[in-house]
Amino acid sequence: MAKQRILTGITTTGTPHLGNYVGAIRPSIAASRDSSIDSFFFMADYHALIKAQDPALVRQSSKEIAATWLALGLDTEQAVFYRQSDIPEIPELTWVLCCNAAKGLMNRAHAYKAAVQANEEAGEDPDYAITMGLFSYPVLMAADILMFNAGKIPVGRDQVQHVEMARDIAQRFNHNFAEVFTLPEAVVDDNVAVLQGLDGRKMSKSYNNTIPLFQSEKQLRKSINKIKTNLLEPGEPKNPDDSTVFQVWSAFASEQETARMRREFDNGIAWGEAKKQLFELVNSEIAPARQRYEELMSDPGHIESVLQAGAQRAREHSSALMQKVRAAVGIGPIS
Ligand code: TRP
Repeated sequence: MAKQRILTGITTTGTPHLGNYVGAIRPSIAASRDSSIDSFFFMADYHALIKAQDPALVRQSSKEIAATWLALGLDTEQAVFYRQSDIPEIPELTWVLCCNAAKGLMNRAHAYKAAVQANEEAGEDPDYAITMGLFSYPVLMAADILMFNAGKIPVGRDQVQHVEMARDIAQRFNHNFAEVFTLPEAVVDDNVAVLQGLDGRKMSKSYNNTIPLFQSEKQLRKSINKIKTNLLEPGEPKNPDDSTVFQVWSAFASEQETARMRREFDNGIAWGEAKKQLFELVNSEIAPARQRYEELMSDPGHIESVLQAGAQRAREHSSALMQKVRAAVGIGPIS
């Protein structure tokens, strides 16, 4: 039986945080070790240009993200791990798909619609500061996905619409030209926690409420101490279900340890003590990788060689697929 192929991308615009780890990195790395799954993971650096106009930031983020995935034990023999911009067929396919994607479909993309709405609310021109990059974002993402004939696309809820658009674009192409593309499906894992950040909202770089994954022990302890709590005193029972401390705890703890912490909350554990235990728990899971992360960050040549090897494997697929696409649409040599 053919292996199931999964693919997902990580936009290179920030420093990986605990929310990225729990929501995407940890489950993806587990999948990379499952020999019944054929996985493709890549750094979406062309996507980063949509949001970030700071070259140093894009460069630094790519390095940090690659080092993070490697430090945490991504199996790069099994998984194909590469950088989007190392695959020239991706922008090439993007153009072909642009010529097939309905503009009306793109008008409905959430990220674009939100930007238009924000402009309207601010009394600006609806197109104010909206680039073609933002508008075409779902087409680039469709190219990422369709290039590798991936069937399952693990993403967060906010990305489901984009995967559906990729499916739509693929269907249209297959119908108009030739059956070239596998139809992709988004996979949202409800068992994976969406982590809360310091202020209790979803942990996200855009809310500036994250706990970076690899900071020194001392800084990690400090970050955890900044998690917002209420004013209940030691000895007063606390509600675990409205507590970020407990929510983060349960993303790292076993079922048993989670049940124990629930009892501790009932018994009025002090916030300081709960945070101390949380630090110990999180730190024990990531400390071994932190060491490796630091080594990798000081050896960028090694990271680069791993990415080049990944790109080479990815291009075996992408160059073959692109040949089919060119042939299907009538681009290529005359004889
Ligand atoms: N747009 C995705 C995000 O911001 C990242 C991404 C780019 C992606 N290309 C992809 C995810 C292809 C899955 C498949 O999260």
